[in-house]
Amino acid sequence: MDKFIADLMSKMTLEEKIGQLNLVTAGEATTGSVVSTDVEAKIKAGNIGGIFSMSSPAKIRKAQELAINQSRLKIPIIFGMDVIHGYRTVFPIPLGLAASWDMPLIRQTARISAIEASADGINWTFSPMVDISRDARWGRISEGSGEDTYLTSQIAKEMVIGYQGEDLSEYNTLMACVKHFALYGASEAGRDYNTTDMSLHRMYNEYLPPYKAALDAGAQTIMTSFNDINGVPATANKWLLTDLLREQWKFKGLVVTDYTAVNELIDHGLGDLQQVSALSLNAGVDMDMVGEGFLTTLKKSLQEGKVKIEDIDRACRLVLEAKYKLGLFDDPFRYCNEERAKTEILKSEHLKLAREAAGKSFVLLKNDQQTLPLKKQGTVAVIGPLANSGANMPGTWSVSADLGKTQSLVEGMREVLGNKVKIVTHLGANLTDDPKLQERSTMFGREIPRDERSSEEIIAEALSTSKDADVIIAALGESSEMSGESSSRTNLDIPASQKRLLEALLQTGKPVVLVLFAGRPMTLTWEDKHVPAILNVWFGGTETGKAVTDVLFGDVNPSGKLPATFPQNVGQLPLYYSHKNTGRPLAKDAWFQKFRSNYLDVSNDPLYPFGYGLSYTKFTYTDLQLSNKQFDRNGQLKATITLKNDGNYDGQEVVQLYIQDVVGSITRPVKELKGFQKIFLKKGESKKVEFTITEEDLKFYNQSLQLVAEAGEFRLFIGGNSRDVQETSFELL
Ligand code: BGC
Repeated sequence: MDKFIADLMSKMTLEEKIGQLNLVTAGEATTGSVVSTDVEAKIKAGNIGGIFSMSSPAKIRKAQELAINQSRLKIPIIFGMDVIHGYRTVFPIPLGLAASWDMPLIRQTARISAIEASADGINWTFSPMVDISRDARWGRISEGSGEDTYLTSQIAKEMVIGYQGEDLSEYNTLMACVKHFALYGASEAGRDYNTTDMSLHRMYNEYLPPYKAALDAGAQTIMTSFNDINGVPATANKWLLTDLLREQWKFKGLVVTDYTAVNELIDHGLGDLQQVSALSLNAGVDMDMVGEGFLTTLKKSLQEGKVKIEDIDRACRLVLEAKYKLGLFDDPFRYCNEERAKTEILKSEHLKLAREAAGKSFVLLKNDQQTLPLKKQGTVAVIGPLANSGANMPGTWSVSADLGKTQSLVEGMREVLGNKVKIVTHLGANLTDDPKLQERSTMFGREIPRDERSSEEIIAEALSTSKDADVIIAALGESSEMSGESSSRTNLDIPASQKRLLEALLQTGKPVVLVLFAGRPMTLTWEDKHVPAILNVWFGGTETGKAVTDVLFGDVNPSGKLPATFPQNVGQLPLYYSHKNTGRPLAKDAWFQKFRSNYLDVSNDPLYPFGYGLSYTKFTYTDLQLSNKQFDRNGQLKATITLKNDGNYDGQEVVQLYIQDVVGSITRPVKELKGFQKIFLKKGESKKVEFTITEEDLKFYNQSLQLVAEAGEFRLFIGGNSRDVQETSFELL
């Protein structure tokens, strides 16, 4: 590769080298206001290195032919796309997939995404998104794996392996792009594109490990984030992109910006387009997404001595290497196989996995008196704005979904249940009372019909539709575009219009099941008090309707566990289980004490803690044991616990291991996830679950940012969520 690329570069003009750094969009699915123009002429002139948001072998072949037949050096184009949680077959939103805690399953969803997208001409995905977020106001929390460093790191690794396979030059792989580097999920106040200011030890211990895990798993590209980091936006941040990424982490792949992120440095206040483009290249960026600052200014900056040819060469070489690794120099049309596009997209086995993944992503938040599962008999009323909207089921960032064909919840139910159950349905309430908010929340073809009558009239009609029902399913919550990019919210309640409906449904005295659609943790304090059963289904993808039916009617026992804390109210945010103790913690079981760290009006507790999720069966944990109470740095420790399925259904449980470093040279979290296992047990069965702990699990970055394990006492916890745990302790010698 090195020789091939060196030979090629020796033939390239400066303009052609700069051309390789230019990534443009075809404008099929875009998130910014700038859309590239003159793409055809630019390809011929060698002014384009990559194109994204273009799909189908025919279109991609046409663009590739222009590069191969009509540009001077015949350098192939790389084709990118946001393949975030599936391609045409859509899996649950990433936050939902994370709730499955099922690593082989997550890897398989990425594999299938790669098979489908590569069959449609694409060879590069802007995924996995591994930004830790502890603030549910941030709409993009839906695109990541939630609040936890360890869980997110495990998932990042699986996704990279799933996309890239074993050999990137295979026709059915995608090059992965880890994003958004870095700390985007910590944007102040949960407002998108906002500033991040963070201590180094928090970065190293809590926010950076998932990016590193994805790179260690082999991800070949990384995307800079939009946010400012301690005074320097990521896209111009030399410390981040060179000192940390290249020098400390030894990353050898390609750095691409986010959408127009170079141009946005102007609004960040770093100078004009020429200045910011130079800053960005010098900081370590290789490829400029959409804004064309590199294309239009780097030559001038070189002449004026503001950038060096070595940096342009470095960036060009890394773009060419990415293409080489994908096998594009061998065969630029490797991913343009019409036959594959016809046979490998939306295959029945892909849909089967999508249904399984959706079922495993749902989290049962409440189930009083075994309201669920329901019996397959009688009449069921499915009421609410999410009951009949197929277009909302795939969830945010599903740009390749076939919205017109995705089943709604009611359609899925009818297909699965046939004529065993009579289903009646009604809108029941508008998504929100505010038509403008509804419009903003249903963009990109995710419409939900509006009924202009008064709330009372709509509800009265819904109640009359439900009058013969034995049970009511309230399909409520967010629309898919209420989370995702540029969809931050300050109020995380179920919208008032829907809440009124829910109250009216409960007043009928019939059993009510809340099927909650959500792209983020929501505030459900009222619902938790009043609704007998709550199943949080996020956005489950193509097969949502069937998968929800599977779980509601007991064919699948829910096993999802929350990857992010559900707060009692928005004022508690950011709220996460792995917080520090403070110097004035509350006494155990107290919820308010004067001059202690708390609020006057609400306890510090979450509504539902990280790792929480119920099952139709009951799991008990007994007999936590350690192989020894002390171990030295070369040794290890085994922790075992007996898990029993004490209920009436077979089921899966996620057994979670947490550790606390009791005394440290810097303050340490009260608990950190360090391991988990998803265990299947038949009813009545029990099993000893074993974890091995080594020095590695106890390491953290100290004040001088060295990775160390400090001798002393550690607490170890095992349980079915981060709150309800058994506890013991050991010592590292
Ligand atoms: C998003 C990225 C995405 C890119 C390309 C941006 O607005 O932040 O996550 O990959 O657009 O579509």
